[in-house]
Amino acid sequence: MPKNSSVPGHVAIIMDGNGRWAQSRNLPRIEGHKAGVKVVKIITQTSAEFGIKYLTLYAFSTENWKRDKTEVDFLFNLFVDAVTNYLAELVENSVKLNFIGNISGLPYFVRKFVDYSINKTSKCNRMTLNVALNYGGREEIINAVRKICKSGANVDEKSFEDFLYTEGQPDPDLIIRTGGEKRLSNFLLYQSFYSELFFTNTYWPDFSKEEYIAILNDFMGKRQRRFGGVK
Ligand code: FPP
Repeated sequence: MPKNSSVPGHVAIIMDGNGRWAQSRNLPRIEGHKAGVKVVKIITQTSAEFGIKYLTLYAFSTENWKRDKTEVDFLFNLFVDAVTNYLAELVENSVKLNFIGNISGLPYFVRKFVDYSINKTSKCNRMTLNVALNYGGREEIINAVRKICKSGANVDEKSFEDFLYTEGQPDPDLIIRTGGEKRLSNFLLYQSFYSELFFTNTYWPDFSKEEYIAILNDFMGKRQRRFGGVK
Protein backbone atom coordinates (compact mmCIF):
# COMPACT_ATOMS: atom_id res chain seq x y z
CA MET A 1 0.00 0.00 0.00
CA PRO A 2 1.25 3.50 -0.77
CA LYS A 3 2.75 5.32 2.19
CA ASN A 4 3.64 8.72 0.77
CA SER A 5 2.75 12.24 1.74
CA SER A 6 -0.10 12.50 -0.77
CA VAL A 7 -2.17 9.91 1.07
CA PRO A 8 -5.18 11.87 2.32
CA GLY A 9 -4.92 12.51 6.04
CA HIS A 10 -8.67 12.60 6.46
CA VAL A 11 -11.36 10.99 4.30
CA ALA A 12 -15.05 11.59 5.01
CA ILE A 13 -17.87 9.58 3.45
CA ILE A 14 -21.59 10.15 2.98
CA MET A 15 -22.85 6.57 2.83
CA ASP A 16 -25.95 7.02 0.69
CA GLY A 17 -28.17 4.68 -1.29
CA ASN A 18 -28.95 1.89 1.20
CA GLY A 19 -32.71 2.30 0.81
CA ARG A 20 -32.62 2.41 -3.00
CA TRP A 21 -30.27 -0.59 -3.09
CA ALA A 22 -32.86 -2.58 -1.14
CA GLN A 23 -35.85 -1.28 -3.08
CA SER A 24 -34.19 -2.17 -6.38
CA ARG A 25 -34.11 -5.76 -5.10
CA ASN A 26 -37.69 -5.67 -3.78
CA LEU A 27 -36.36 -5.86 -0.24
CA PRO A 28 -37.37 -3.70 2.74
CA ARG A 29 -35.15 -0.61 3.21
CA ILE A 30 -33.62 -2.03 6.38
CA GLU A 31 -31.98 -4.79 4.33
CA GLY A 32 -29.98 -2.05 2.60
CA HIS A 33 -28.70 -0.77 5.94
CA LYS A 34 -27.73 -4.30 6.97
CA ALA A 35 -25.81 -4.77 3.73
CA GLY A 36 -24.18 -1.36 4.30
CA VAL A 37 -22.60 -2.48 7.56
CA LYS A 38 -20.37 -4.97 5.72
CA VAL A 39 -19.08 -2.13 3.54
CA VAL A 40 -18.29 -0.01 6.63
CA LYS A 41 -15.93 -2.78 7.72
CA ILE A 42 -14.22 -3.09 4.33
CA ILE A 43 -13.73 0.66 3.93
CA THR A 44 -12.43 1.09 7.49
CA GLN A 45 -9.90 -1.72 6.99
CA THR A 46 -8.79 -0.35 3.60
CA SER A 47 -8.38 3.16 5.04
CA ALA A 48 -6.15 1.82 7.81
CA GLU A 49 -4.08 -0.15 5.26
CA PHE A 50 -3.54 3.05 3.25
CA GLY A 51 -2.27 4.89 6.29
CA ILE A 52 -5.22 7.30 6.40
CA LYS A 53 -5.27 8.80 9.91
CA TYR A 54 -8.90 9.96 10.10
CA LEU A 55 -11.99 8.41 8.53
CA THR A 56 -15.38 10.03 9.12
CA LEU A 57 -18.60 8.18 8.27
CA TYR A 58 -21.98 9.92 8.16
CA ALA A 59 -24.21 7.36 9.89
CA PHE A 60 -27.17 9.47 11.14
CA SER A 61 -27.92 13.11 10.46
CA THR A 62 -30.05 15.53 12.46
CA GLU A 63 -32.49 15.32 9.51
CA ASN A 64 -32.75 11.51 9.67
CA TRP A 65 -35.23 11.81 12.58
CA LYS A 66 -37.85 12.59 9.90
CA ARG A 67 -37.78 8.94 8.85
CA ASP A 68 -40.28 6.36 9.94
CA LYS A 69 -39.78 5.54 13.65
CA THR A 70 -39.27 1.85 12.92
CA GLU A 71 -36.42 2.68 10.53
CA VAL A 72 -34.81 5.08 13.04
CA ASP A 73 -35.04 2.46 15.82
CA PHE A 74 -33.67 -0.16 13.48
CA LEU A 75 -30.71 2.05 12.55
CA PHE A 76 -29.70 2.66 16.18
CA ASN A 77 -29.97 -1.04 17.04
CA LEU A 78 -28.05 -2.00 13.91
CA PHE A 79 -25.33 0.49 14.75
CA VAL A 80 -24.92 -0.83 18.31
CA ASP A 81 -24.96 -4.49 17.15
CA ALA A 82 -22.55 -3.85 14.29
CA VAL A 83 -20.01 -1.98 16.37
CA THR A 84 -20.32 -4.50 19.23
CA ASN A 85 -19.40 -7.29 16.81
CA TYR A 86 -16.62 -5.23 15.26
CA LEU A 87 -15.07 -3.85 18.45
CA ALA A 88 -12.44 -6.57 18.98
CA GLU A 89 -11.24 -6.17 15.39
CA LEU A 90 -11.06 -2.38 15.79
CA VAL A 91 -8.89 -2.80 18.88
CA GLU A 92 -6.74 -5.41 17.11
CA ASN A 93 -6.15 -2.94 14.26
CA SER A 94 -5.67 -0.07 16.72
CA VAL A 95 -8.59 1.98 15.38
CA LYS A 96 -9.87 4.58 17.85
CA LEU A 97 -13.60 5.30 17.82
CA ASN A 98 -14.78 8.87 18.14
CA PHE A 99 -18.29 10.26 17.73
CA ILE A 100 -19.26 13.60 16.28
CA GLY A 101 -22.74 15.04 16.63
CA ASN A 102 -25.28 15.77 19.31
CA ILE A 103 -24.67 12.61 21.32
CA SER A 104 -26.74 13.82 24.28
CA GLY A 105 -29.81 13.79 21.99
CA LEU A 106 -29.52 10.06 21.30
CA PRO A 107 -31.47 7.30 23.08
CA TYR A 108 -29.98 6.20 26.41
CA PHE A 109 -28.78 2.78 25.19
CA VAL A 110 -26.92 4.40 22.29
CA ARG A 111 -25.27 6.97 24.58
CA LYS A 112 -24.16 4.22 26.96
CA PHE A 113 -22.72 2.26 24.06
CA VAL A 114 -20.94 5.34 22.69
CA ASP A 115 -19.19 5.82 26.06
CA TYR A 116 -18.34 2.13 26.27
CA SER A 117 -16.82 1.92 22.79
CA ILE A 118 -14.84 5.16 23.22
CA ASN A 119 -13.41 3.70 26.39
CA LYS A 120 -12.56 0.33 24.80
CA THR A 121 -10.62 1.92 21.93
CA SER A 122 -9.10 4.85 23.84
CA LYS A 123 -5.53 3.54 23.57
CA CYS A 124 -5.70 2.83 19.82
CA ASN A 125 -3.62 5.14 17.66
CA ARG A 126 -3.29 3.84 14.10
CA MET A 127 -6.42 5.59 12.82
CA THR A 128 -9.40 7.47 14.24
CA LEU A 129 -12.85 6.47 13.00
CA ASN A 130 -15.29 9.32 13.52
CA VAL A 131 -18.88 8.16 13.40
CA ALA A 132 -21.21 11.09 12.73
CA LEU A 133 -24.32 10.31 14.79
CA ASN A 134 -27.15 12.82 15.15
CA TYR A 135 -24.78 15.14 13.32
CA GLY A 136 -25.68 18.40 11.60
CA GLY A 137 -23.11 20.84 10.23
CA ARG A 138 -25.17 23.97 10.93
CA GLU A 139 -25.91 22.83 14.47
CA GLU A 140 -22.19 22.18 14.99
CA ILE A 141 -21.29 25.72 13.83
CA ILE A 142 -24.02 27.39 15.90
CA ASN A 143 -22.98 25.44 19.01
CA ALA A 144 -19.36 26.38 18.41
CA VAL A 145 -20.34 30.07 18.18
CA ARG A 146 -22.23 29.81 21.46
CA LYS A 147 -19.34 28.04 23.19
CA ILE A 148 -16.62 30.38 21.95
CA CYS A 149 -18.63 33.45 23.02
CA LYS A 150 -19.16 31.95 26.47
CA SER A 151 -15.47 31.08 26.80
CA GLY A 152 -14.33 34.61 26.11
CA ALA A 153 -11.68 33.29 23.68
CA ASN A 154 -10.51 35.43 20.81
CA VAL A 155 -12.56 34.58 17.71
CA ASP A 156 -10.31 33.53 14.85
CA GLU A 157 -10.15 30.49 12.58
CA LYS A 158 -7.63 28.63 14.72
CA SER A 159 -9.45 29.10 18.03
CA PHE A 160 -12.87 28.48 16.44
CA GLU A 161 -11.80 25.00 15.32
CA ASP A 162 -11.28 24.06 18.97
CA PHE A 163 -15.04 24.38 19.52
CA LEU A 164 -16.05 22.04 16.69
CA TYR A 165 -16.68 18.31 17.16
CA THR A 166 -13.52 17.68 15.08
CA GLU A 167 -11.30 19.62 17.49
CA GLY A 168 -7.64 18.74 16.95
CA GLN A 169 -8.26 16.90 13.67
CA PRO A 170 -7.25 17.95 10.15
CA ASP A 171 -9.99 19.03 7.74
CA PRO A 172 -11.09 16.30 5.34
CA ASP A 173 -8.91 16.22 2.21
CA LEU A 174 -11.47 14.15 0.44
CA ILE A 175 -15.24 13.77 0.80
CA ILE A 176 -16.90 10.89 -1.03
CA ARG A 177 -20.65 10.56 -1.52
CA THR A 178 -22.15 7.34 -2.83
CA GLY A 179 -25.69 6.93 -4.18
CA GLY A 180 -25.73 9.48 -7.00
CA GLU A 181 -26.76 12.73 -5.24
CA LYS A 182 -24.39 15.66 -5.60
CA ARG A 183 -24.69 17.61 -2.38
CA LEU A 184 -23.19 17.77 1.12
CA SER A 185 -26.46 17.40 3.06
CA ASN A 186 -25.31 19.34 6.14
CA PHE A 187 -22.09 17.30 6.45
CA LEU A 188 -18.89 18.95 7.75
CA LEU A 189 -19.96 22.37 6.44
CA TYR A 190 -17.14 24.26 8.18
CA GLN A 191 -14.44 21.64 7.65
CA SER A 192 -15.14 21.00 3.93
CA PHE A 193 -13.98 24.42 2.70
CA TYR A 194 -11.16 23.01 0.52
CA SER A 195 -12.05 19.30 0.44
CA GLU A 196 -11.96 17.50 -2.88
CA LEU A 197 -15.41 16.10 -3.60
CA PHE A 198 -16.06 12.75 -5.27
CA PHE A 199 -19.53 11.60 -6.23
CA THR A 200 -20.30 8.08 -7.38
CA ASN A 201 -23.60 6.60 -8.53
CA THR A 202 -22.82 3.34 -6.73
CA TYR A 203 -25.20 2.61 -3.87
CA TRP A 204 -23.36 2.24 -0.55
CA PRO A 205 -23.94 -1.54 -0.19
CA ASP A 206 -22.28 -2.03 -3.60
CA PHE A 207 -19.35 0.30 -2.88
CA SER A 208 -16.29 -1.92 -3.10
CA LYS A 209 -12.70 -1.90 -1.94
CA GLU A 210 -11.69 -1.63 -5.62
CA GLU A 211 -13.80 1.48 -6.25
CA TYR A 212 -12.54 3.08 -3.05
CA ILE A 213 -8.92 2.41 -4.02
CA ALA A 214 -9.57 3.84 -7.50
CA ILE A 215 -10.90 7.07 -5.91
CA LEU A 216 -7.91 7.25 -3.53
CA ASN A 217 -5.49 6.70 -6.43
CA ASP A 218 -7.24 9.39 -8.44
CA PHE A 219 -6.94 11.79 -5.50
CA MET A 220 -3.28 10.95 -4.94
CA GLY A 221 -2.26 10.93 -8.57
CA LYS A 222 -4.16 13.48 -10.54
CA ARG A 223 -5.54 16.21 -8.39
CA GLN A 224 -3.50 19.33 -7.85
CA ARG A 225 -4.73 21.17 -4.79
CA ARG A 226 -3.97 24.87 -4.85
CA PHE A 227 -6.04 26.04 -1.86
CA GLY A 228 -6.94 29.22 -3.74
CA GLY A 229 -3.36 29.91 -4.85
CA VAL A 230 -2.00 29.78 -8.40
CA LYS A 231 0.38 26.83 -8.31
C1 FPP B 1 -28.14 6.33 3.79
O1 FPP B 1 -28.93 5.55 2.95
C2 FPP B 1 -27.67 5.57 4.94
C3 FPP B 1 -27.96 5.85 6.26
C4 FPP B 1 -28.81 6.96 6.68
C5 FPP B 1 -27.47 4.98 7.34
C6 FPP B 1 -26.08 4.45 7.21
C7 FPP B 1 -25.86 3.45 8.26
C8 FPP B 1 -25.16 2.28 8.12
C9 FPP B 1 -24.45 1.89 6.87
C10 FPP B 1 -25.10 1.30 9.23
C11 FPP B 1 -24.39 1.57 10.50
C12 FPP B 1 -23.18 2.41 10.50
C13 FPP B 1 -22.02 2.12 11.16
C14 FPP B 1 -20.97 3.20 11.22
C15 FPP B 1 -21.73 0.82 11.77
P1 FPP B 1 -30.43 5.97 2.68
O2 FPP B 1 -31.31 5.20 3.60
O3 FPP B 1 -30.57 7.46 2.75
O4 FPP B 1 -30.63 5.46 1.21
P2 FPP B 1 -31.60 6.07 0.10
O5 FPP B 1 -31.07 7.46 -0.22
O6 FPP B 1 -31.42 5.14 -1.03
O7 FPP B 1 -32.98 6.09 0.68
